[in-house]
Amino acid sequence: MTDRAAGLRIVVGVGGGIAAYKACGLIRHFTEAGHQVRVIPTESALEFVGKATFEALSGNRVDTGVFADVPSVAHVALGQEADLVVVAPATADLMARAAAGRADDLLTGTLLMARCPVLLAPAMHTEMWEHPATVANAATLRSRGVTVMEPAHGRLTGTDTGAGRLPEPDQIGALADLLLARADAVPRDMTGLRVLISAGGTREPLDPVRFLGNRSSGKQGYALAALAAQRGAEVTVIAGDGVHLPTPAAVHVQTIGTARELQTAVDAAAPEADVVIMAAAVADFRPADYAGAKIKKGAGEPDTVPLSRNPDILAGLVEQRAQGRLPVDQLIVGFAAETGDDEGDELHHGRAKLRRKGCDLLVLNAVGDGRAFEVDDNAGWLLGADGSETTMEFGSKALMASRILDAVTALRRRADGPD
Ligand code: CTP
Repeated sequence: MTDRAAGLRIVVGVGGGIAAYKACGLIRHFTEAGHQVRVIPTESALEFVGKATFEALSGNRVDTGVFADVPSVAHVALGQEADLVVVAPATADLMARAAAGRADDLLTGTLLMARCPVLLAPAMHTEMWEHPATVANAATLRSRGVTVMEPAHGRLTGTDTGAGRLPEPDQIGALADLLLARADAVPRDMTGLRVLISAGGTREPLDPVRFLGNRSSGKQGYALAALAAQRGAEVTVIAGDGVHLPTPAAVHVQTIGTARELQTAVDAAAPEADVVIMAAAVADFRPADYAGAKIKKGAGEPDTVPLSRNPDILAGLVEQRAQGRLPVDQLIVGFAAETGDDEGDELHHGRAKLRRKGCDLLVLNAVGDGRAFEVDDNAGWLLGADGSETTMEFGSKALMASRILDAVTALRRRADGPD
């Protein structure tokens, strides 16, 4: 069983912005998961995408005003019955109307009626997003339990770039699924924290066309980064160059190739970080010699490839912290992907790794039989240096990320002492 329930009632609100077309991908995200979708655009959204498109994609009638479909009292019923309301794009005007509690069209009326989780994905020009009025409206909505997403950074209408771009439909969908799974708002409990996350696999070149690599896709590291940013953290990801995932909204991504490049990048960024999460699958060994020209297969038996040991970056961070070269209150999280063997099960190996690495928290995944790598769901345990052990039931990598970040914030709170 996954955490993604099917057959729920989802309202997709669409504000009047150029990004309204991206709502189509979001509607698909929900219908393909088996949910019932009602689309409620504003009048101005229909300037960008026609009603027929929304009706065809959702399979349901589409109205904008409170006087449409009066017999079914739609302006009351849609919000009352919804399991989730997602608005994408949420324009500055729509956020202002929602924050003021207005109900002058079907969408704002629905927002006022909804008692289910509500997710707003803002999209507007940077100046509008940063305007004190919008900042205050976002804060007001968040204080009422609405999840207001951090927008992405990038190309806006015209030639401008900056913060205010609508996150991609899959990213909004992943956060929406998390709200459904947790039936709660995404907390802003990482505001002010600087989080450094390594993700994906390293690649150790043998010659210009070959490398020693591994199966890490970077999905869990990116899910952590995406959610930490939505929980208010300032997030940097250092990703292996084999990761092919969209940059999460409001996250800075730096790319590396080898373990030694990862070490250089992590060591440069770690002194500024409050939390370091080593989700990367780091190659323990690299070919001892790099052949500048492609190695030919030749006629005889192949040569063996001598290997050299790579640095242990995680253990190095723990050591630097102990020596006072990193903030003493920095929280260091490691990952372990284990299989059972003659010596013991995954937990046995995970406990040993936690002791060996000396980090504060170890995320332990059982691997093999198609588990953990390159897939969207995961399960495992959270092992704390304090001896705590928590089972993480099977679920999406976004849900895993939320449990890991819950543990991180709890540890930070404990380190800060009682309020
Ligand atoms: N790690 C690291 N540097 C390495 C190897 C691993 O920083 N050279 C980090 C990984 O990012 C992960 C944790 O250490 O957070 C555990 O990785 P894993 O490969 O399971 O650990 P190893 O020490 O390589 O143990 P094993 O002998 O089981 O491969």
